[in-house]
Amino acid sequence: METVGIIGAGQIGSAIAKIIAETGKYHVIASRRNLSKIKELENLGVELTSNNKEVASRSNIVIISVKPHKTIEVLREVAVYLRNKILISVAAAIPIERLVEAAPEAKIVRAMPNINILVRASFTAYAKGPNLTQEDMRKVQEFFKLMGEYIEVEEELMDAITALSGSGPAYVSTLIEAMAYAGLKVGMPRELAYYSAAYTVYGSAKLYLETKLHPSIIKEMVLTPAGVTIEGIYYLEEGGIRTAIMKAVEAATRKAQEIAEKLNKK
Ligand SMILES: NC(=O)c1ccc[n+]([C@@H]2O[C@H](COP(=O)([O-])OP(=O)(O)OC[C@H]3O[C@@H](n4cnc5c(N)ncnc54)[C@H](OP(=O)(O)O)[C@@H]3O)[C@@H](O)[C@H]2O)c1
Repeated sequence: METVGIIGAGQIGSAIAKIIAETGKYHVIASRRNLSKIKELENLGVELTSNNKEVASRSNIVIISVKPHKTIEVLREVAVYLRNKILISVAAAIPIERLVEAAPEAKIVRAMPNINILVRASFTAYAKGPNLTQEDMRKVQEFFKLMGEYIEVEEELMDAITALSGSGPAYVSTLIEAMAYAGLKVGMPRELAYYSAAYTVYGSAKLYLETKLHPSIIKEMVLTPAGVTIEGIYYLEEGGIRTAIMKAVEAATRKAQEIAEKLNKK
């Protein structure tokens, strides 16, 4: 059985640990300094330690999921244990070039998943570094598949990916919350308001993904002249929902680029 090591088991790292351990296909070792916050992972068979070197030395595949500003420092600390091992960094803003400088003997993949890992529905984009064989990539993709969907992209797209799908669950949750608030405003019971809002977002995404019908066509399927939906759409357009979302992703992309520039200054 392969051992997967997770260095920095916070929000994303512990989500990965949880779903990987649940498959029963991997042994999982996870580290952070304050282990009391992730005690429940032990019930899934995850081994916990605050020793990053132990994680790196005992694992075949290592995930580094500490905050971006700590990634290089922590990676340097464990680099000697990563010789010929697959290392997946999920840190925003840290380019492959710097990861390779810090751990030159590791086979590096830079990935950007999202918190939907928790329900195995992450959208994970990745860019690969040098020295990965086809067999390594098969292992990496098998691993990503457990977390949801994955796609290989050019590394230059990673800041945009971070801003769109990495941050995306926060935008969509804002939409769900807004729709549920609307339900409350027109008198729905709270539970029904959240459930109907969330399930409608889920179903609409599923409809697009399974039929590949353009979103404008799906919208047309719901709109009737002088009907209920066009009344709602009129106010969404007046509120500038599309430009609001476009500006949000554009600003978040700029922010990711600014953080990258600051963290990677030579
Ligand atoms: N959150 C997201 O939705 C998301 C999505 C995609 C990618 N990411 C990326 O994932 C990474 C982690 O983000 P996060 O949101 O999961 O942050 P987080 O919850 O703060 O997790 C980072 C973890 O690293 C641990 N840590 C700090 N210093 C450490 C050290 N020296 N050795 C071992 N562990 C250490 C921290 O725990 P202790 O303080 O107990 O050590 C903390 O639990 C970031 O690089 C981020 O860019 C996040």
